[in-house]
Amino acid sequence: MIVIEDRQSLDSWVEQSRMWGGKVGFIPTMGALHEGHLALVREAKKTCTQTIVSIFVNPTQFGPEEDFSQYPRTFEKDRALLEEIACDAVFLPSPEVIYPPGGQTYVAVEPLASQLCGASRPGHFQGVATVVTILLNLVRPHAAYFGVKDYQQLTLIKQMVRDLAMAVEVVGVPIVREEDGLALSSRNRYLTAKERQQATALYKALLAAQSLFKNGELKAIKLEKAARKILYESGIEQIDYVEVRHRKTLACQLSVEDPVMLIAAKVGKTRLIDNMVLST
Ligand code: PAF
Repeated sequence: MIVIEDRQSLDSWVEQSRMWGGKVGFIPTMGALHEGHLALVREAKKTCTQTIVSIFVNPTQFGPEEDFSQYPRTFEKDRALLEEIACDAVFLPSPEVIYPPGGQTYVAVEPLASQLCGASRPGHFQGVATVVTILLNLVRPHAAYFGVKDYQQLTLIKQMVRDLAMAVEVVGVPIVREEDGLALSSRNRYLTAKERQQATALYKALLAAQSLFKNGELKAIKLEKAARKILYESGIEQIDYVEVRHRKTLACQLSVEDPVMLIAAKVGKTRLIDNMVLST
């Protein structure tokens, strides 16, 4: 596996990979890789001739009070994992490679970026949309792979790619869960043993809402109330949101149709998110 750190080497790799009809699959990450990321690489490898992962802890998507400096940086372990599954290349840029001095341009996907996670993390999705645009412009992949776990991020990137007529296929890859249902996340490593146990309530809350929906409950407020109850009962008190939205647009709805439930809550000091399409 080749490690690429600068724009020029990346350009040569991309040129070569696209030659003779080659198909490039791209997985943008912030490192601290786990099975969820590896599932994205495996998905890419099914149809792409070359697969490249980027590892860049993007400063512009962290708020001033967030965990940018503490975010896990585990490159040697990440590299070994990627080598094991025969990933072709890893792009490991410095902040200056991504954001050369003098930049003035940002990508804002509004109003989607200001809702749900965007409401409590102002600027987060502008940082995500901007860095993903830069990365896509540098890597020029045929397909880019994102986890369904970050449902709002995936929806926003699909919207951005459509709005800006970007020539890339956006592929959503299903959530990978632990045996007890906890969605894999690089932030799970912050949880204490007690919090790790509590964190399973997010999945249980989603399952409860799904079961209610399947039994005919269509009122968003009732579905949300049932999920909140399970979170509170497990001792999770800092709930950011529990919302049922339209699966494709994330529009609010009183009486739900094709719904997804999204949850964000703090377990101890760790903010976790999860979601479930209720009709599946
Ligand atoms: O999902 C992530 O890890 C990040 O938001 C992304 C897409 C790599 C952009 O920094």
